[in-house]
Amino acid sequence: MSTISILVLNGPNLSRLGKREPEIYGHLSLDDINRELARSFPDISFEFFQSEHEGSLAEKLFEAEDRGCFSGVVLNAGAFTHYSIALRDAISSVQLPVIEVHLSNVHAREAFRRTSVISEVCAGVISGFGANSYHLGVRGLLAKG
Ligand code: DQA
Repeated sequence: MSTISILVLNGPNLSRLGKREPEIYGHLSLDDINRELARSFPDISFEFFQSEHEGSLAEKLFEAEDRGCFSGVVLNAGAFTHYSIALRDAISSVQLPVIEVHLSNVHAREAFRRTSVISEVCAGVISGFGANSYHLGVRGLLAKG
């Protein structure tokens, strides 16, 4: 049986998890979340990447597609979710299924967070389950086969 590989991609300000507005995003750091994800799915090979920069996220998506070893991507695009047409175009440029995830329930917050310019080109959306959103994103990818 070949190992399933999943890329977990995080956008701007998610490097500050644990310190950043813990009442909204919780007390775990991104490293804690990534470690816990790898521990929960021991049969999956994960690659983790975070960037504050729009272009770096797009480049990572292209690299992931070109390497040809990934089954899909779990993406928390942070604030880029709400306005980055460049990221949306990058997602729709690749064949890889991308699951959009958010720690917070973006629909229960400020009005500008209710708009996602990437949802339409993602394979699914998960929002509001804290660190578990990433786990559910992985489950969603596995369920899509
Ligand atoms: C977020 C929600 C976004 O609105 C926000 O800009 C983030 C984090 C979340 O995980 O809840 O940076 O994507």
